[in-house]
Formats: sequence, C-alpha cells, structure tokens
Amino acid sequence: MRKILLTGKNGQVGWELQRTLAPLGRVIALDSSGLDLADVDAIRRKVREIRPHIIVNPAAHTAVDKAESEPELAMAINGVAPGVFAEEAKKLDALLVHYSTDYVFDGSKQGAYREDDAPNPLGVYGKSKLAGEQAIRAAGCNHLILRTSWVYGARGKNFLLTMLRLAKERSELRIVDDQIGAPTWCRSLAEITAQILAQLYMPGASEEDMARVSGTYHLTSSGSVSWHGFAAEILRLAAVQPTPRLVAIPSREYPTPAARPLNSVLSNDKLLHTFGLQAGGWQENLQLCMQERGSS
Ligand SMILES: NC(=O)c1ccc[n+]([C@@H]2O[C@H](COP(=O)([O-])OP(=O)(O)OC[C@H]3O[C@@H](n4cnc5c(N)ncnc54)[C@H](OP(=O)(O)O)[C@@H]3O)[C@@H](O)[C@H]2O)c1
Repeated sequence: MRKILLTGKNGQVGWELQRTLAPLGRVIALDSSGLDLADVDAIRRKVREIRPHIIVNPAAHTAVDKAESEPELAMAINGVAPGVFAEEAKKLDALLVHYSTDYVFDGSKQGAYREDDAPNPLGVYGKSKLAGEQAIRAAGCNHLILRTSWVYGARGKNFLLTMLRLAKERSELRIVDDQIGAPTWCRSLAEITAQILAQLYMPGASEEDMARVSGTYHLTSSGSVSWHGFAAEILRLAAVQPTPRLVAIPSREYPTPAARPLNSVLSNDKLLHTFGLQAGGWQENLQLCMQERGSS
C-alpha cells in the first residue's frame, strides 16, 4: 500500500487533502504536535520511520505580517524544512509535493506571472517560501512545487471568514482595491493535487514520466480581482442584512508590517498543458464554497 505523509493536517489545504488523498494510499496525517517543522532532526526521524512514497507538505508559517517579527522561525519552517523533506525524499525515491506562493514575486509585472518569471519577494514570508523552493530544487528529488494565491475555505483563518464576521459587526468596510489576485478555494487545490497524483501513479506511468513533469506549477483559480472586488462578491453572495458600505482604499491607507505585491496573478497555463487540469473561475468556486458552508 502506498504511504503518503501529509503535514499540516489541520490547515486549510491540509484538512482538505486528508480527504482527497485518501483514495491514493494510506495517509499518515500530522499536525505540528506530531511533527514540528522547525525541528530538522524530528523531520528526518519521522520520514525515516514512515518511509513514505509521497510527502505532501502544505504546512507552513503562513502569518505574513507576523513573519516580519519572527524571521528565524519563518525561515526554519518555510525555508529549511522543505529542503530537509526533499533530501529525505531523494534517499527514498519518494515524490515531494509542496505548496508555495504568489508572494515570491514583487508584483511589478504587467500581466500574469509564469513559473519562469524571476522571483523577487517583498517580505520575510515570501523570502522564506522562495528559500524553501530553492532548497527543494537543490536536493534533486522528484517534486511538484505548487504555487497558489489568496487561499480561503469554510474553516481556518482567511479573508472570506473575516469579511463575513466584519459584515455583521460594522456598517462600513474599507478594503484595499489596488492589489489584484486570484482567490483560490483550498478544496480545489486539494482536489487538483489528488488528480495530478492519480495521473502520476496510474498503472503504466513510468519513473521517466515522473521525472519529466517534476517542477514548479502555478495553481490558482482562473480570473482575477482586487481584495475590494472579492469582498463585494462575498457580501453579494452572503446577502448580509443590513449590507455594510464597502469603501475602496489604496494599500497605503492600510499599512501592514509586510509589503504585498500589487499584482499577484499567476498564469495556470503550464498546469493545463501538462496535466489537462484547471481550478475553475474564482467566482464559481467562491459560490460553491459558500453553498457548502451554508449547508453544513
Ligand atoms: N493562505 C494563503 O492565502 C496562501 C497563499 C499562497 C500560498 N499559500 C501556501 O499554501 C500552503 C497551505 O496554506 P494554508 O492556508 O492551508 O495554511 P494554514 O491554514 O495557515 O495552515 C498551515 C498549517 O501549518 C502548520 N504549521 C505551522 N507551523 C508548523 C510547525 N512548526 N510544524 C508543523 N506544522 C506547522 C499548522 O499546523 P498546526 O495547526 O498544527 O499548528 C497549520 O495547520 C502553505 O504552504 C502556504 O504557504 C497559502
């Protein structure tokens, strides 16, 4: 039976992966109490004990602003740990699936970022995630680095749930309208991850096929919107009464410890051409997520 080591099982993406990976093998799902990614020796011990065929690593230090004041911890979890997983994966001939971010880019490009565009992160979080990508590539294991953006879901900490809460508490919401990106439902990320793996491990698929597709892919919803536009769509779908007034503001009127890219849009063409997969439109996915949330 194929063994899949999954980290961050209680995170947005990790939670969904527990379900989508289940048909592909025996999922050994860990949270930070089962494996602390800041502890290199613990990572090596755990991987050597489990001897997984696939390692799926959605765990990360995802607090973008907090990372500015704890750069060592962010670097340990996001920059060093992925490389350790990759070294261990290489020894086991295992595949490493890892998630990265639009924040590896500085957002100055006109148009959607491709996988081979030069990264230039603006903050500690983006720098630490980029270091993680580089460490994986240097280790030379078969890997999929899936860069995504603006992740939300029906649980956890995310923009959708923050907007729904604030909409009940406030009569006016001031939301940034000069940062553009693609809100991505954690469930579609987990489903596409499983579909990629199903292709890679289908009967007849070879080691060469795996090595050929090993690399970095962008995986987000299609389309793009500002945070303000995203908030407007959330409020429209939620039909909160009375509806708070939405005010569009520039980023400079909402200062945060970490600078964020103005353009976070990623091109998903490589994923589509390689695997024939795409995540669907951001509005359609938001609607599905909110329906699911309403029915639960
Ligand atoms: N959220 C976004 O908007 C976004 C955007 C672009 C890319 N991404 C990337 O997508 C991936 C998944 O993000 P997400 O939103 O699902 O993250 P999330 O909900 O914040 O979950 C992160 C998980 O990481 C785990 N974790 C944190 N520190 C750890 C440590 N020291 N040891 C072990 N586990 C630790 C946490 O586990 P515990 O709960 O047990 O502490 C948590 O469950 C990440 O790689 C992230 O960088 C996210």
